[in-house]
Amino acid sequence: MNALTFLIRIILASFLNFQARVASQFVPPNFGEEGAWQLLQENIGISAMHMQLLRNDKVIMFDRTDFGPSNLSLPGGRCRMDPSDSALTVDCTAHSILYDIPSNTFRPLMVETDTWCSSGSVLPNGTLVQSGGFNDGELRIRMFTPCWDQGCDWLEFPNYLLERRWYSTNQILPDGRIIVVGGRKQFNYEFYPRNPTNNLTQAFFLTFLQETTDPSENNLYPFLHLLPDGNLFIFANTRSILFDYNQNLVLKEFPRIPGEDPRNYPSTGSSVLLPLDDNKPCTEAEIMICGGAPQASFKQAQQGTFIQALTTCGRIKPTDPNPTWVMETMPMPRVMGDMLLLPTGDVIIINGVASGTAGWNHGRQAVLSPLVYHPSTRQFTMMSSASRPRVYHSSAVLLSDGRVLVGGSNPHMKYNFSSGVEFPTDLSLEAFSPPYLSPEFNEVRGRITSTTCNSFLGYRMVCDITFTVRNYMSAREVSVRLVAPSFTTHSFAMNQRMVVLNLVGVTHVGAHTYYATVVGPSSPQIAPPGFYLLFLLHAGIPTTATWLQLL
Ligand SMILES: *[C@@H]1O[C@H](CO)[C@@H](O)[C@H](O)[C@H]1NC(C)=O
Ligand SMILES: *[C@@H]1O[C@H](CO)[C@@H](O)[C@H](O)[C@H]1NC(C)=O
Ligand SMILES: *[C@@H]1O[C@H](CO)[C@@H](O)[C@H](O)[C@H]1NC(C)=O
Ligand SMILES: *[C@@H]1O[C@H](CO)[C@@H](O)[C@H](O)[C@H]1NC(C)=O
Repeated sequence: MNALTFLIRIILASFLNFQARVASQFVPPNFGEEGAWQLLQENIGISAMHMQLLRNDKVIMFDRTDFGPSNLSLPGGRCRMDPSDSALTVDCTAHSILYDIPSNTFRPLMVETDTWCSSGSVLPNGTLVQSGGFNDGELRIRMFTPCWDQGCDWLEFPNYLLERRWYSTNQILPDGRIIVVGGRKQFNYEFYPRNPTNNLTQAFFLTFLQETTDPSENNLYPFLHLLPDGNLFIFANTRSILFDYNQNLVLKEFPRIPGEDPRNYPSTGSSVLLPLDDNKPCTEAEIMICGGAPQASFKQAQQGTFIQALTTCGRIKPTDPNPTWVMETMPMPRVMGDMLLLPTGDVIIINGVASGTAGWNHGRQAVLSPLVYHPSTRQFTMMSSASRPRVYHSSAVLLSDGRVLVGGSNPHMKYNFSSGVEFPTDLSLEAFSPPYLSPEFNEVRGRITSTTCNSFLGYRMVCDITFTVRNYMSAREVSVRLVAPSFTTHSFAMNQRMVVLNLVGVTHVGAHTYYATVVGPSSPQIAPPGFYLLFLLHAGIPTTATWLQLL
């Protein structure tokens, strides 16, 4: 990117920022087909390795306690005394923050033990449960309940987990429990809350996790997706299964992904469950996995040779009687890309590098341009380039206004700001605005003003979503969908899903005012209970979301 385009982006960014506060007095320039980048914060003090959007439009972020001193002090002169910390036994700096989206401000939070390479899910009541980490944090869970004042902070529960969970993956289940799967040298899974009646002292063994572990003991952060029949799709490296976690039963193994190249850490690809459509009998689900790195990459990177990452994506419908992979080719190779569902149902692939793998300093050639993939036309569109590389330990989440928040990037064992390293630690936050946010679409962009379900939505319950739009087209152009916000780390957005709601009709009620009558999801298997973003699409352009609690 040359200096002029950079300057234009900065100006654009400040316009956008301004517009967010002073609704449409200023008309920022259109940014059309390629989207636009905005620098939100140069320095949040920590490197956003893990991120989760909460129901109050705040994003909780954390890195690890053994990174050494961060660039943000703990509040009130507090310090963490931790004799087992490998970097610093007395640390008066924060390793977690709470970022407030509307005001673009943040405050430090206190984690007491190491959260490095951990996992998380939000409970149906909106409380985040984070699980595991490293060292003194590996058996802990930590909870964070969002609040509307400055009062809330992490609560930690020592020795809660049955096994150490470092690089494991979580999924919220239809009954509101959380399943925690795998982790380094962990070929088993367990649940939050621990089963109170059985008083289990052992996790459930799962051979598949052992079988898919490569010679360097890696198949970390397996991809988990909850399917409409209530079973789990679990993918590790090249293999995948349909898994009944209630009976500890592998119901089916799917064909290996073509090419035999691994897709999980350190060959970190990414994966999404494509939008589920509740207008159809919702028995069909499709999963898409993109990028990764050839088997030899990790060893080669350790020796200073950086092999090209994978260019392929695979799509599979695990709900078909005889599922097969359909392969696609991205315009460029990518490992450590983050795949997120956009409100339109398109998939954005953002962050990552074109050669090497995940792990300390093992990636090269940052890929600055996100791709937007359209599942129905199977086309990839290249977006405008970011100014900063987001390599290992970076993350991305979808925001309620439709932007994608991006942060983190630190391939070093400590914070390392040295100009002598290829990718210095990044402490910034940026937002990417996909093309649908361009002001040229404002005439057809709706605005949700109220709902008859008053922020609650029951299964199969009817709800009217009132919205205004200047240039209404037709009911055929309206679609309403729920998005479950993800816990993102290591290029996987855990718990992410989209359900397109059954639309009964659209009624004209007044000047530029309409309501869309929708029906709540048909089952908790399709959409587990919890807080969702509800987006209304008109003419392909999403509103800002409103939060609904599905119960
Ligand atoms: C962060 O803190 C370190 C140590 O205090 C300092 O050297 C560095 O310049 C700071 N980096 C940024 C980006 O503020
Ligand atoms: C949600 O449930 C958990 C587990 O019972 C509890 O610890 C937490 O306080 C609850 N959060 C809210 C907001 O009620
Ligand atoms: C659960 O099992 C542990 C270890 O066997 C035991 O110490 C504890 O008392 C048991 N708790 C209950 C409620 O049975
Ligand atoms: C940063 O990384 C380089 C290369 O690994 C290393 O030589 C240097 O000591 C590191 N600096 C810090 C502050 O850790």
